[in-house]
Order: sequence, then structure tokens, then C-alpha cells
Amino acid sequence: MPTDQIRLLVVEDVPQVAQYLRGLVSSSPRVKLLDILRDGRGVAEQAVQLRPDVVIVDALLQGRVGGLDLAAQLRQSGLPASIVVITVPQRPVSVAPDHGVDAVLSMPFTGYELITLLQKTVEAQRSRDPGASSLLVGVFAPKGGVGKTTLAFNLAVAVQQHQGARTVLVDGSLQFGDLRALLKVPADAPSILDLPIDRIQETDLAEVLWRDPSGIDILLAPPRIEMADMVTPRDVEKVLSLVRRVYAATIVDLPTSLSDLTLSFLDAADVILDIVTYDSTTIRNTISVAETFRAIGYPASKLQYVLNRSDSAGGLDPGVVEAAIGRRPDHSVVSDGRLVVEANNQGVPFVLAAPDAAITADLYRMAEALVRARRPVGVPA
Ligand SMILES: Nc1ncnc2c1ncn2[C@@H]1O[C@H](COP(=O)(O)OP(=O)(O)OP(=O)(O)O)[C@@H](O)[C@H]1O
Ligand SMILES: [Mg+2]
Repeated sequence: MPTDQIRLLVVEDVPQVAQYLRGLVSSSPRVKLLDILRDGRGVAEQAVQLRPDVVIVDALLQGRVGGLDLAAQLRQSGLPASIVVITVPQRPVSVAPDHGVDAVLSMPFTGYELITLLQKTVEAQRSRDPGASSLLVGVFAPKGGVGKTTLAFNLAVAVQQHQGARTVLVDGSLQFGDLRALLKVPADAPSILDLPIDRIQETDLAEVLWRDPSGIDILLAPPRIEMADMVTPRDVEKVLSLVRRVYAATIVDLPTSLSDLTLSFLDAADVILDIVTYDSTTIRNTISVAETFRAIGYPASKLQYVLNRSDSAGGLDPGVVEAAIGRRPDHSVVSDGRLVVEANNQGVPFVLAAPDAAITADLYRMAEALVRARRPVGVPA
């Protein structure tokens, strides 16, 4: 139940109304009140941090930013939340989703009316676009050692830093847990196994995540190989659906095998980033995997190719990758052996270690394209 709580942010400058709203929602386990802000300025920035499902804005908000202007601004900002405007009968407001008014509630209203409206609004938003509020990317390759872990880690940091989207990196390589080694995490750091799967809540998640100095949160794989067997596809499904509710973006580092577990991550993903390099085995495996994905029924749009080390064809005709995948790769990342090895050895993301490097620009470009494509339809950047 608590996992589908509605995360509510309120912008209300009249203390009595703020108090009244607080009282109404505090008795409902369905709603989690994140904060009540008294001023329209800075709400958009706060909202990025707080990740509300719904923002309630008072149409009569005083101060530099009026209520309806604020609603329009929030919609413009691309915030993936519904906006409910409250007003008084003397100042009627019409529903106008393009201007940030998804629903209107006229005072006075009861707790029942408020909660029902919040639920309806959130349901409508979810049925319009179930993933509107989050992006889930699986980083996969049909061959080992092509850069999955390196790119997944740096992409997660790039998405969070550059796009202001709170991001979690999930180690989906459950047997080997590459991120533990890369980030030099102590062996006793908690993992996905420490989550109480059958009654998992947001608070559990916060306790189990590894806070990397780069600023992203990481859900680690179990510390020992055989422990991976204790995680089931059903667990993966549950964990991902919770993580999606909390984070604007989830990046999963996957192993090479197409096991049931890997497939449970891929099924849940909005985008599969399939890494290709100029290497004949990788290219051949990429073709077989594309066929498998088609057979499973993944839509073509779910699969995006990343050409890693794009500037080092290693003697192959640069056209071979394009010929094999039947189109230009969606993203490309140049080779930078010195930087990547050094950053990996230190366990830091190269996107932060070398902000001006060409490879960093490639990662930021990829992050931007992924986030942009995810913005709900009709909402400008
Ligand atoms: N663009 C790049 N330029 C230079 N080196 C790279 C690049 N991408 C990856 N590498 C190097 O390739 C090696 C393998 O990278 P990584 O461990 O990320 O691959 P992987 O696909 O996760 O491997 P595994 O299959 O073992 O999980 C690392 O040594 C990394 O430094
Ligand atoms: Mg790896």
C-alpha cells in the first residue's frame, strides 16, 4: 500500500488554508505530504528534488509569482506531476492542462473530496502515460567487456548532473556485481537482497542504497556469486516498480547473458541501450540478439544502439556496424583509454573527472537525448 502513496507538494501562502490542507491529508495513508511552500519562487527547483506526483497550487497565491502563472511555469518546466489548482467560488478557474491546470477544486471542500480528486488525477496521469514520471534504461551488450559498466555508471551521473533528474544506478549484473569492484564498495555494504521484497517501502530503499560520492544512489548486487540465485524475476519487477516511483531515472548495468533475471530487467526497461563495438564477434552477437528481442515482442523503438569506441574501427570497415544493425547507431562514444582506465581505477566517473573531454560530451549528449525523448507528450522542454 505505501508504495502507491501519492506524493503531494502544496504551494499555499495563507496559513489557515495550509493548516486545513495539512489536516485533511494527514489522516489519509494514501497521501504523503512532502512540503507546503509559501512562495511561488523556486518551486520548480524544489519540485525536481521532491518528485511529487501532484502539486496543489492556490490560484490566489500572492507574491512575485501568482498561482496560475506558477501552474503554467511548472507545466513548461516538464515536471512529471499533475497540477491541481484550488480556488474560491468567486474566482472560477477552468481546467487547462496545457497551462498546468489538470484539475480544479473550489473551496470549501472535504477531505473525501480532496483525496478522491488527487487519486483520480494521478490515475488519469498514469493511464495517459504510465512511465511519464520516470525513465528506465537497461545497458546491455551481447558480449563481455565492451563497456557496459563504465557507460552505465557515467550515464547515470550524466543524467543526474546534466538533466537535474534524480538518478539511481542498479547493478543488474547480479552474479558478479561489477559496480562493487568499480566503486570500491566495502563487502558488507547492503544489496538488493537486504530489501524486504514482500512488503518493501521507500524507507527500506533509502537504507539499502549506496550513496556514491558522485551524487547518485546505487542499488548494489549481492556480495557473493551464489547469492544471485536468491533474487527472482518477481523480486526484480517489484524493486524496479518501487525505484521508478522514487527516482526520475533508473539506469541498470546488465550482464551479457540473456537469463530470466536479465530479461526481467529488460522487460521493465523503457529503453535498452545495446552496446556495439568494432569487433566481429560483438557484431554477430548483436544481430542474433536483435532477432531475439523481436521474437520476444519488444517494439523496435525500445532498442537503441550505442557504438562504443566509435573512432577505433580496428581495421574493420567503419560501415560494418551500420550494415549489421540496419541503421545508424543512435549514440556513439569515442575511445579514450587513458582517461577511462584512470577514472575506473580510481572509481570515479570520467564525466566528472574530465568535464571537457570529448567522451564526456558524448555521454552528456546521450543523457540529454534519453531524457528529452521521455518528456510527456505536449510538454515542452
Ligand atoms: N570508450 C572507451 N574508451 C576507452 N576504454 C573503454 C571505453 N569503454 C570501455 N573501456 C574499457 O573497456 C574495459 C571494459 O569495460 P567495462 O568493464 O565497462 O565493460 P563491461 O561490458 O561492463 O564488461 P563485463 O562484460 O565484464 O561486465 C574497461 O577496461 C574500460 O576501461
Ligand atoms: Mg560489467
